[in-house]
Amino acid sequence: MVLSKNTSRKLEHLDICIEKDVEGPLTNFLEYVFLIHKANSEISIDDVDLRVKFLGKELNYPLVITGMTGGAPGTEKINRDLALAAEEFRIALGVGSQRAAIEDPTLRNTFSVVRDVAKDVPVIANIGAHEFVRYDLRIIEDIVDMVKADALAIHLNLPQELVQPEGGISFKGFKDKLLSVIDRLNVPIIIKEVGFGLSYEVAKELYDLGIRYFDVAGAGGTNWVKVEVYRAKSQGLNVKAMLGEHLLDWGIPTAASIIEVRNAAPDAVVIGSGGIRSAYEAVKALRLGSNLVGMARPILVALRKGVLRDYLSSFLIAMKAIFVLLGIRRLYELYEVPIIITGLLKEWLSCRGFSIVKPRVMS
Ligand code: FNR
Repeated sequence: MVLSKNTSRKLEHLDICIEKDVEGPLTNFLEYVFLIHKANSEISIDDVDLRVKFLGKELNYPLVITGMTGGAPGTEKINRDLALAAEEFRIALGVGSQRAAIEDPTLRNTFSVVRDVAKDVPVIANIGAHEFVRYDLRIIEDIVDMVKADALAIHLNLPQELVQPEGGISFKGFKDKLLSVIDRLNVPIIIKEVGFGLSYEVAKELYDLGIRYFDVAGAGGTNWVKVEVYRAKSQGLNVKAMLGEHLLDWGIPTAASIIEVRNAAPDAVVIGSGGIRSAYEAVKALRLGSNLVGMARPILVALRKGVLRDYLSSFLIAMKAIFVLLGIRRLYELYEVPIIITGLLKEWLSCRGFSIVKPRVMS
């Protein structure tokens, strides 16, 4: 089979993300956050109830598997397995960029399989800002319909685009396009980064245009500049690879990004993501002001190892265990527990003049 450039790039991304060290050098700054142990907690794990409403549907846990794949051979199976897990644990699920299926309709099933399997949980369609600007409303609606989505995530991935061997894109016209589409689409738009974070200023500008959903995807987890440096090196593109090395530590660490976005948009739904690797980190990300947390790469790695069910099961039980150790039962109580902010995160907040703001809307 001859693969299109877009398709083989997707397969390379999957392989690199699974096999290589693609994280850091920035951390997510959650190591500067501490929650206080309640030694005499009388809560039992069965009392803890982490259900939340998201996009009009009830989830058992405030967790989203954020968009990763589709649009290449083998990805139908990955998306099916992710959808099975999402449905079983009642968590939300995004698909990867659907551009490939717009360019080649034979690839639509690699995305639509998600809705065939995950019938009851929110499914999030996905497209890059570069494509969003070029596509007319009919195509954008088709992207949503393809997975019968509850929302459309538009990803902003500028550092990656600048480094990737194909390169040469721009988001020119993005704001005007958003304005023309936002009220005509019948599902909400989620503005999503891919691992470089959203700032107060970006969130405020988009909030003022009417955006009410943000996935911060901050720095400290999967680093797409690192991924593209691997690809550039393997293609012998030395200048691109070296260019990438200048940008390896670019981005807003996840903990800072959550607080920035929440300050800009107190009543928006905020997904805290980017480098969430433990249940404690997930609970800290929520405490900083997220409504839900998101994860991508660890889910893919667990799936590849054949341990996704155990991974998710232990992660979600551990989130409940942390609620026990905090002495609380429900998510809304988390926003009131004591929190300690130290080190670089404390300095970041003081330089930027932000403090922790709890969500005004419980999703
Ligand atoms: C991604 N991510 C991503 N995001 C997006 O909006 N559209 C996409 O097509 C993809 N593709 C993709 C492929 C793979 C293999 C991975 C690992 C990730 C980004 C993802 O949703 C997430 O924002 C970042 O990976 C940061 O989260 P983690 O991986 O640090 O938990």
